[in-house]
Amino acid sequence: MLHRGHKGRSQMADLTRTSEAVAGCAGSSASGSAGSASANVLSLEAADTTVLLACPAGGLPEIVYWGPAPAHESADAPEHDASRRLSFWPQCDGPERLSLSPSPAYGFSGYPGIELHSDGRHTLPRFAIVAIRRGQESLAFELAADDARLTLTIETRLHPASGVLTIVSELINRSDSCYSLQWLTAAALPLPAEYRDVLTFRGRWGREFQPARQTLNDGLLMKESRVGRTSHHSFPGLLIGSPAFDDEQGSVRALHLGWSGNHRLLVERLRDDRIQVQLGELLLPGEVRLQPEERYRSPTLFAAWSETGLNGIRRQLHRYARADVIPGPGRLRQRPVHFNTWDAVRFDHDSQALDTLVGLAADIGVERFVLDDGWFRGRDDDRAGLGDWYVCERKYPDGLRWLVDRVHLAGMEFGLWFEPEMVNEDSDILRAHPDWRLGDLRQPLPRGRNQYALDLDRADVREYLLERLISLVRQYDIAYLKWDMNRDLIHPVSDGRPAARRQTMRVYELIDELRRSCPGIEVEACASGGARADYAMLKRTERIWPSDCHDPLERQTIQRSFSLFFPPEVMGAHIGPRRCSVTGRSYSPSLSALGTLFGHMGVEADLRDFSATELETLAAAIGIYRDNRDWLHCAETVWLPHDELSICMMLAAAGDQALVSVIHGSASRNWPPSALALPGLPAATRYQVSILFDTQNAAGTAAGAESMQTATGRELADRGVTLPPLGPASGVLLQALAVGGRK
Ligand code: DGJ
Repeated sequence: MLHRGHKGRSQMADLTRTSEAVAGCAGSSASGSAGSASANVLSLEAADTTVLLACPAGGLPEIVYWGPAPAHESADAPEHDASRRLSFWPQCDGPERLSLSPSPAYGFSGYPGIELHSDGRHTLPRFAIVAIRRGQESLAFELAADDARLTLTIETRLHPASGVLTIVSELINRSDSCYSLQWLTAAALPLPAEYRDVLTFRGRWGREFQPARQTLNDGLLMKESRVGRTSHHSFPGLLIGSPAFDDEQGSVRALHLGWSGNHRLLVERLRDDRIQVQLGELLLPGEVRLQPEERYRSPTLFAAWSETGLNGIRRQLHRYARADVIPGPGRLRQRPVHFNTWDAVRFDHDSQALDTLVGLAADIGVERFVLDDGWFRGRDDDRAGLGDWYVCERKYPDGLRWLVDRVHLAGMEFGLWFEPEMVNEDSDILRAHPDWRLGDLRQPLPRGRNQYALDLDRADVREYLLERLISLVRQYDIAYLKWDMNRDLIHPVSDGRPAARRQTMRVYELIDELRRSCPGIEVEACASGGARADYAMLKRTERIWPSDCHDPLERQTIQRSFSLFFPPEVMGAHIGPRRCSVTGRSYSPSLSALGTLFGHMGVEADLRDFSATELETLAAAIGIYRDNRDWLHCAETVWLPHDELSICMMLAAAGDQALVSVIHGSASRNWPPSALALPGLPAATRYQVSILFDTQNAAGTAAGAESMQTATGRELADRGVTLPPLGPASGVLLQALAVGGRK
């Protein structure tokens, strides 16, 4: 079920007849986007998307259709109808319902949606719908277990502008005893049996967001983060779709869990060939023990669909993130060009060097200067100082004031790096408070990057951190805070009890409190590069740092995957040093610049190492970014499949222009290269196509735009443009600009 071919409306009506209507929702209808498709099939409709939910009386709600809005008169009804699936010996009688919270209490034999017990008993609550609440764009199902000891509420919402479906589940203990919760999926979604390809993302520091495609033939495919953060190795999101889906084609569904702690994703081919997918928080043993009237709320599941490959997913999720996730009303203000000191000076904060870098950065068009790690007491390498959030008196005898003033005078904002959650053993704060560490303090605690995590569940720890952060932000007019987190939390114990969940929630609270106390401050989420990229973090940060790898070729893969879930304006992208410290490979600064234009651009290199011509090239690239960011940051991102080139197109919402970055990694097979089709522009509009930036040109852009041809949108899609010959590790930026109106 659940996608393209769904069968007739008449069969929807059948579904109604096969089960009793639920008390309180029979025959009801709702206007707007939440409505009643039939007596016990309710619908959510918005932005060309329809979700149909069957609500059988005495049972659990289940999605029977999710995908493109059917044209109602001729619509085919959901082909999936669990109530009519035949069961056969030795299965239980009746269908195995794949509900939003599938349960063995109803004969479901796959991975259950909830696992819990009360002192070893009450392990199979049989939930059933007791009430349905409709909002303008939402449906909330209130379920009670048969003995009324538990309430489960499943909230579904279809976002009006994007059609993204969000689901959250909340469990309340209504009994007078304690329940231990082991698993509560945000929801279980059914997917078409013919889906085969599953795309997840793995990685490590310096090589994040590596796509991993697998075929789901049988059984369970499960990914988990047990490292107390979103993780490098298990991004909490996946795509699943028809065989060989790619950027431009295929039926695909995308799921993402907005959570920055331990999590579990699972896709299961059930024994009757249906597929279910579940995403939820991974709970440690004993981590959630619900006392009477206590509740557990799952993280939010975000779900998008596309019948036109991954670019359709990008379109839907970017629209959603812009409207509903990124902080602040509406769009972000213009994303200022950053300079970050990390790759230039590391811990060596020499005032002369910083002064020179401020001048050079301002000269090439940088707008925000971010002082990274190394500015605080005792921080000469990564073995000491973390936690002592006082400006280093040796490196900065008069504090940061001179630097902040210098940055402001040069016309830039000032930003500062912190890693609030961590301490080094060699720090005054840990010497004074050895019991502030997270973990079972009776045992030796594993260290990571020479550091320990602070126990954020302690009020004194939080008070200390907030006092330090807020007073520094106020004292130095800090516009921007890079919030880093550089180790896994594999032993999260607080006060003798598992604390991964509490630690994650406390991080959110700290950032929220900081933002409340320092209105206007912007925050970047970084965790050893890209280990904290998720919508819960994006809700409270303006920028996500995807990776410390500045290698422009490696970066193409990272950015391409990242762009599936996150819009370009929140993706930090920096021009790195000539030699990438992660891969050890060297590139021209112009190639590095080309790869950053479609993100939130910045520079992270020792500008003193660049020649005057190279600095001019960077200034030219920054100029292109500044001239175009207004429309780029609400544009549509399209990646084009190609076996040799890495091609990313940004299409202006107004259809009047596009920028295309074309990067060639290795030596080309054909010479000269074949024409490159550029789909997506309005067919009848005529465009002037130019090369705006060419990395094979000493100064990148040299004498300005080099005109190539004029063509209509249709011609560009059909015949394409002829590219200049591109050598290994080179690229061009093409511009298509509407001219002379319609053909
Ligand atoms: C890890 C981050 O990913 C880097 O960008 C940098 O901020 C270092 N931490 C500083 O220690």
